[in-house]
Amino acid sequence: MLGLDPTDPDFRQDPYATYRRLRESTPVLRSPAGFWVLTRHRECELVLRDQRFGYPAAAAAAPACPASGGAALPGGFADQRHMLIFMNPPEHTRLRRVLRDTFGPRVMRSATGYVEERTGQLLDRALRSGEPCDLISSLAHPLPFGVICHLLGVPGPDHAKIEKWAQDYLAGVSPSFTVSKANHQGRDEALAGLNDYFRVLAAQRRRAPGEDVLSRLIAAQDDGRISEEELLGTCILLFVAGHGTTTNLIGNGALALLRHPGQLARFRAEPELAASAVEELLRYDSPSHLSIRVAFEDVDLGEGNVVRAGEQVIVVRGAANRDPEVFADPDTLDLGRPDNRHLSFASGLHVCFGAPLARTQAKIALGALFNRAPHLALADERLEYKPSLLSRALEALPVTTRP
Ligand code: HEM
Repeated sequence: MLGLDPTDPDFRQDPYATYRRLRESTPVLRSPAGFWVLTRHRECELVLRDQRFGYPAAAAAAPACPASGGAALPGGFADQRHMLIFMNPPEHTRLRRVLRDTFGPRVMRSATGYVEERTGQLLDRALRSGEPCDLISSLAHPLPFGVICHLLGVPGPDHAKIEKWAQDYLAGVSPSFTVSKANHQGRDEALAGLNDYFRVLAAQRRRAPGEDVLSRLIAAQDDGRISEEELLGTCILLFVAGHGTTTNLIGNGALALLRHPGQLARFRAEPELAASAVEELLRYDSPSHLSIRVAFEDVDLGEGNVVRAGEQVIVVRGAANRDPEVFADPDTLDLGRPDNRHLSFASGLHVCFGAPLARTQAKIALGALFNRAPHLALADERLEYKPSLLSRALEALPVTTRP
């Protein structure tokens, strides 16, 4: 559809060529199927920030509950309407405040300590033998996955089971033209599995509370600040939103640095550049490329483009991040880029809640990786990406570690 085809290997290798073509020819495009595709920074930011766009209840409609044979949902079952990302004010405002209180300074300190320790362990293992290794499976994936499980208090033996559900869930929430009936069924089954899982975990934690995020959410439920469905929906959202995206940031970031030796030398030599480097890596090859919104009322985007109430808008943030109107030399990686207004964490009401944690992980992981492995090099130029429009995810990143 419009060249946005995640099954096309050329698109997967370089989506930016298609984005450029769309942005230069039809930056505000109404597809024949009746939805809009935006590839210019101006309109992308406008839609993300404008509350006339959002997720109407219908868009987040409860998937049929497999456990009930598609009948009415049982009480205590969180569907997408109970997830922050699908909510609108005032519910969104209330739940986001609860989440902000939950992730207080103590939780963030504990998370940072965990990231430092776990990064060290993972790199010890990956670099010990001096043999080639895959940076995705040895660092970029296990680190953020471990962090979110640590925060939610998910025990090690459960990791594989709930990870599979996260993948199935995400495969079912991509733009509708890339999603099959089987994907929707997988999403609904994953949601049912995650509901059951977090309900049992919450019951255990209620009997023996700790300092983790789940215990704090339970306290908020006991105070009447959130419902049981919102507690479950929040656990599920944190879990599915919190790790794959960060894996992509570390993986795509490491790849960009390996492909730009001059910038990598700066990264190693100027530690004070770390914060701005992470912003540029987020912009240059963004971990997630799209946001989807629906217009609540008719909205004029200018130049005769009126989005009608009920129409879907696909905000291609990955394209906006390369818009030459906003970024000088947008296809150049510049770790010192000033005023980097990338949209990788979106913008407005739903701006990524976990952005500080993601930035911390990238800074620590990439800093330690390139410090400890002075001879790191790509083992293979041809890399495979997962067939997704939503996320920009390497299957593997093989590297050598010896000169
Ligand atoms: C590099 C890593 C990450 C990226 C690129 C990313 C990206 C995003 C984006 C683009 C959105 C908005 C989606 C939309 O409006 O359509 C979002 C929302 C969200 N993210 Fe992240 N995310 C990352 C890491 C995390 C982490 C580590 C967590 C959890 C600790 C997290 C939790 C959330 C939550 C809860 C929301 C919903 C916020 C709301 O609706 O108010 N994210 N993220």
